[in-house]
Amino acid sequence: MPITLEPDQQEQMLSAARSAFKNAHAPYSNFKVGATILTERGSMYHGCNVENASYGLTICAERNAIFAAVAAEGSGMRIKAVAVATERDGPCAPCGACRQVIFEFGPDALVLFRGQSGTEQMAITKLLPEGFRL
Ligand code: THU
Repeated sequence: MPITLEPDQQEQMLSAARSAFKNAHAPYSNFKVGATILTERGSMYHGCNVENASYGLTICAERNAIFAAVAAEGSGMRIKAVAVATERDGPCAPCGACRQVIFEFGPDALVLFRGQSGTEQMAITKLLPEGFRL
């Protein structure tokens, strides 16, 4: 059963993701990202990207939000929807690594992000066909 969100809930999530990017630590890329997770329990968790002088240690906003959700709800946490926002105009679909982490906790999750022509809502299985499972 595909997940759908009411327009006011979509706007609430996108607006929360826009607030989340304000705390980003992105002095190297100057690309601040915020993400909000809605869990099946109905709670929201937020994350921003945190970069490091040793670039490879950087962590994306989406994974920070998901890990905060796991820390709060435990390993059974399930993602209903994810919203991503950035400080800049232009597309902000989640990176490949974050898609795989979204899939782990939300195989039916709905992902909201800015595409080439405005806000997109896409199932994680469309963003990540054949996601990896053990
Ligand atoms: N970034 C995210 O936070 N999420 C993504 O899905 C893609 C990239 C961050 C990582 C890095 O801090 C900056 O954006 C530029 O790549």
